[in-house]
Amino acid sequence: MRRAGGPVRKLVDNFPVQYSFRVQKGARMKIPLLDLKAEYAGLRDEILQALDRVCQSSAFVEGPEVAAFEQEFADFCGTRHCVALSSGTAALHLGLLAMGVQSGCEVITTPNTFLATAEAITYCGATPVLVDIDPATANIDPKLIERAITPRTKAIIPVHLYGRPADMDPVREIAAQHHLKVLEDAAQAHAARYRSQRVGSIGNAAAFSFYPSKNLGAYGEGGALTTNDDAIANYARAARSHGQSARYDHEFVGFNYRMQGFQGAILRIKLRHLHAWTEMRRETAARYRQLLSGARLAMPKDDPRDVCVYHQFVIYVQNRGAVIAKLAERGIETTVHYPRPVHLQPAYSSLGDPAGTFPRAERACEQVLSLPNFPGMTAEQIEYVASAVNEVVGKQ
Ligand SMILES: Cc1ncc(COP(=O)(O)O)c(C=O)c1O
Repeated sequence: MRRAGGPVRKLVDNFPVQYSFRVQKGARMKIPLLDLKAEYAGLRDEILQALDRVCQSSAFVEGPEVAAFEQEFADFCGTRHCVALSSGTAALHLGLLAMGVQSGCEVITTPNTFLATAEAITYCGATPVLVDIDPATANIDPKLIERAITPRTKAIIPVHLYGRPADMDPVREIAAQHHLKVLEDAAQAHAARYRSQRVGSIGNAAAFSFYPSKNLGAYGEGGALTTNDDAIANYARAARSHGQSARYDHEFVGFNYRMQGFQGAILRIKLRHLHAWTEMRRETAARYRQLLSGARLAMPKDDPRDVCVYHQFVIYVQNRGAVIAKLAERGIETTVHYPRPVHLQPAYSSLGDPAGTFPRAERACEQVLSLPNFPGMTAEQIEYVASAVNEVVGKQ
């Protein structure tokens, strides 16, 4: 067991993070994409006490911890409401239903996203209508949205991919002109800001995921819908619990999309660290940018007016398979978000959008590669990854 060299960054107050690197054949370090074990080590006592509190109260589903988290996360996002749910997918689904999306409607979104964005549209009986990305940001290109609008269009879902805010001003303008609703997919963007505004508070509503690997992750599944719209919040509160307005008063056929008490308790603890963790992710990203500046690769651009929270630090490379293999040989874990755009997934062959329909998203999916970026990464780890990438991809 050996601690990484360089300044050790603290995940939580008074907790120096310990990493164990087993030296592999040919690899000086072993660097995971994300290190949730180190995070837990720093929070263990607090988390076990909170879980015990939930057990003692038997509030396993919703309950006081979830209610308190809803208030705290709404305050964090600057919204009137936060409705805690069982997943980000549930949040997208209820957000769309609350906006009146139903069978026969169309909802515009990006092909460069996790499948859940499109699935939520399909759950409503509606059709996803995809619009290509701006290659500079990997997010939906607002300039292409208007031509995709038809009389059936009901809503737009901009996705803040990798924690980088989508360009919301033009999206909102187009939505206002065409009487459309905007549901932010903020699953990857907790704490991000578009201009000075927190994501989650910009559209008519926003869907967050608390999947364990997210910037704010539960210890299981979780999600939330944030909104300033009382009607959307009221609908989602009833819909998550079988359409109940009061116990056993079922106003409509709803869902079981409630958050577990354990998840509320954990999210409350982790929310208190989110600022510090976000800063660490951003510092790592800034350092990667410096160290990789001459390499034969591309990176998405940050708008200096926004705050990107770097859920993923991605690069675009040629011969991605070889780059992944060579980085793995050097002990560096990488992954691909996402290898195929929505329209090229078998699940969405029914859209009838063949290869070549959204060339920018397709190119991004062919070349994108996520590098390790997690709170507590040391300077030495960052330099090790960057120097391996420089060596593998070569200079420009
Ligand atoms: C962009 C995006 N949207 C939606 C989701 C769905 O969230 P969940 O996994 O919590 O259902 C995810 C989760 O991976 C996501 O990354």
